[in-house]
Amino acid sequence: MYKELDEILVTEQQIRMRTHELGKEISDTYGDEEISVISIVNGAIIFTADLLRTITSPVRLDCIRVSSYGNSTTPETAPEILDNMRLDLAGRHVLIVDDILDTGKTISKVVDVITKQNPASIRSCMLLEKIGTREVVYQSDFVGFSIPNKFVVGYGLDFAGRYRNIPVIGVLKEKLQTVAV
Ligand code: IMP
Ligand code: MG
Repeated sequence: MYKELDEILVTEQQIRMRTHELGKEISDTYGDEEISVISIVNGAIIFTADLLRTITSPVRLDCIRVSSYGNSTTPETAPEILDNMRLDLAGRHVLIVDDILDTGKTISKVVDVITKQNPASIRSCMLLEKIGTREVVYQSDFVGFSIPNKFVVGYGLDFAGRYRNIPVIGVLKEKLQTVAV
């Protein structure tokens, strides 16, 4: 057990097995077509690194940085693009990778930005999706796990930049959800 967590929702083994299944689903979908993977950092860094190595289709990788929760556990303002990707996506098959689908605002913003480049297709792969929290209608093409509406950390997910290195996904202890700095 991890001292920062109240509860483990997804174990290391579950992450590993599901990631391989997702890699197979994605490779079956794209075949020999090249995929332009856009990873939403920092949250998706660890998932992207593991997922990419399970994909057999040819891949290009770039990252986009979107404003995050900051030092809070709920989104306060509309997401903004802080650092845009550099790859030219015109006519390309784009796969957006993120750690978690919550209100849907982040992915909608990223889809809007990418759509402007006229890609051939846009899909997304989310490690996690929270149930019953969508404020913007959005359906991801590939989803790792559906989880209840609790604030989770680990495997890339953070609170105020911390806990990304915990190898499982778990619910952050309530008393740790308030302290910033
Ligand atoms: P959305 O824009 O509300 O869908 O939120 C998506 C982003 O919020 C993700 O990329 C995460 O960075 C962050 N997020 C949402 N829920 C959690 C959580 O439970 N733990 C950590 N980060 C979260
Ligand atoms: Mg994030």
